[in-house]
Amino acid sequence: MVNELSGKVAIVTGGASGLGQGIAEKFVAEGARVAIADIDDEGGAALAAALGDRASFHHLDVSDPDAVGALTDSVVEQFGGLDVMVNNAGVSGTMHPSYVSDDLADFHTVLGVNLLGVMAGTKHAARQMASTGGSIINISSIGGIQAGGSVMTYRASKAAVIHFSKSVAIELAQQDIRVNVIAPGSIPTPLLASSAVKMGADAETFTAIIRSMMAANRPLAREGTAEDVAEAALFFATDRSRYVTATLLPVDGGTIAGPPRPPAGGAAPSSESAPDQPTAEDDLVDTVATTADDVDSQASITHA
Ligand SMILES: NC(=O)c1ccc[n+]([C@@H]2O[C@H](COP(=O)([O-])OP(=O)(O)OC[C@H]3O[C@@H](n4cnc5c(N)ncnc54)[C@H](O)[C@@H]3O)[C@@H](O)[C@H]2O)c1
Repeated sequence: MVNELSGKVAIVTGGASGLGQGIAEKFVAEGARVAIADIDDEGGAALAAALGDRASFHHLDVSDPDAVGALTDSVVEQFGGLDVMVNNAGVSGTMHPSYVSDDLADFHTVLGVNLLGVMAGTKHAARQMASTGGSIINISSIGGIQAGGSVMTYRASKAAVIHFSKSVAIELAQQDIRVNVIAPGSIPTPLLASSAVKMGADAETFTAIIRSMMAANRPLAREGTAEDVAEAALFFATDRSRYVTATLLPVDGGTIAGPPRPPAGGAAPSSESAPDQPTAEDDLVDTVATTADDVDSQASITHA
């Protein structure tokens, strides 16, 4: 596929890193002009420079609806229109061993970025697309579909993104604006390390535990990549999905469908390695398994 987005203008929030970076790269490769909007000035500017003339960086905190409105205004002024809005910026929640011990201190931050940011992005993109139509792509998470025994604030924010997006899609369909949701899962990005930092864990150990849990719960053998998510975003951005709106597409290697069959003659991975006496690493495994929703490990693999 080449130049599927030729002549199109897109905004990608959270485009300086991880999945947003992959989407920005894909869209530029397909001929779009892409505005990367992020709080990470250094990373965003470097990526825009690397992507060349068709990319630009714009500082944006998506949790400020007025700033989101100003950004869409300025992109339309600069590029002459807006065809695709990817509301991707997101943050992980702070991890706690249990919900009762969750002080809810990050509630406003997580909801502000993950939900208000998506709602503001949708509103201001729709305002710009009112006479032309367009495609709005909101990034949720399989943690917003699958209930689990942890990171309630993050899960709530991502579940709300799905419900909001389907609801607003009904209204915006009248203006030929399509709204669809991608729910990634099992894709290591810098978000994973940020989760470790927030729970005070060693990033390397934490990442290794999470990746092995994701592998145990994922039907497709390999880990996902930002490119995998970008392919889904490209589908929703182009006319290939012209009759598709208000849908939810997991991009998770099949994780949300359920875990694969355990190896013949063996027990499930979680019980296979369970020692009689808990160790410090087991405590981390427990906490991670019940809280590591940034990469959407499933509660079913919680260390027993
Ligand atoms: N990686 C996964 O497996 C996975 C799974 C499910 C959902 N997601 C979702 O995908 C999206 C991208 O996550 P990622 O894994 O690429 O993480 P990431 O940390 O690599 O990227 C997130 C980006 O968002 C930016 N950002 C954070 N707060 C912002 C704000 N207030 N305003 C503007 N930009 C802000 C960050 O600077 C960063 O560039 C998030 O919404 C995340 O919840 C990721």
